[in-house]
Amino acid sequence: MIPDISKFIDIHTHILPDIDDGPQNMEESASMARCYVALGIHTIIATPHFIPGTAWAANREKVRQKTEEVQTYFNEQNIALKLHPGMEIAYHGKLMARLEKGILQSLANSNYYLLEPSFQDSQYDLLQCARQFMEQGHKVIMAHPERIQAFQKKQTALYEAIQSGLEVQLNSGSLLGKFGEVCKETAMKFIAAKSVHYLASDAHSVENRKPLDVAEWKQINDILGDKLHCTLCIDNPQKITMNAHAK
Ligand SMILES: [Fe+2]
Repeated sequence: MIPDISKFIDIHTHILPDIDDGPQNMEESASMARCYVALGIHTIIATPHFIPGTAWAANREKVRQKTEEVQTYFNEQNIALKLHPGMEIAYHGKLMARLEKGILQSLANSNYYLLEPSFQDSQYDLLQCARQFMEQGHKVIMAHPERIQAFQKKQTALYEAIQSGLEVQLNSGSLLGKFGEVCKETAMKFIAAKSVHYLASDAHSVENRKPLDVAEWKQINDILGDKLHCTLCIDNPQKITMNAHAK
């Protein structure tokens, strides 16, 4: 049976206002939240970009504070959506130092970190960094590798890292062909290789890159089948939110 969309936990969303290229004010955030609520979805993780040296670099403290402010606003507006704090952490050379200083926000205060690969550079350093995180006992999820040229061309290094514990999150839009054929083919290749652990929207607004809707949910089910769809959108995300601990 097709999984119940109301149980979907979206682990990659840009819903916090005025912090990155997501919504620019609280009302735009609320519009996104109402899309989720209309589908019956009750839990998502807010993952603003963290790109040091740019305007999109809110640290853990700021992200937590903003998440609380937005949650309060949603509650006041009777929008029944639970927000967990998170961060989409762009790879950069000082990442380990920033982890040690407590600047990085994990997903839902769990042990999982969402890392964003560079769209241009070699992925060697990123995969090395993911290994370092994992050696320290953390879990690492790579955001949308199917969108990255290096992984579209060659998957060997990524698959080796997955063997070592790295997890992979695909964008739902990739499977739906919204980022082009190569991206979709790469996503399908990862699925065939059993190398995908999560599917998320990476939603940025209600217009462009919006939260999933029911028709798209059904389309994705046709692609993945019931069991894998449930694993990637419900079961594995649940493990993250249940792993939450104040850290
Ligand atoms: Fe994102």
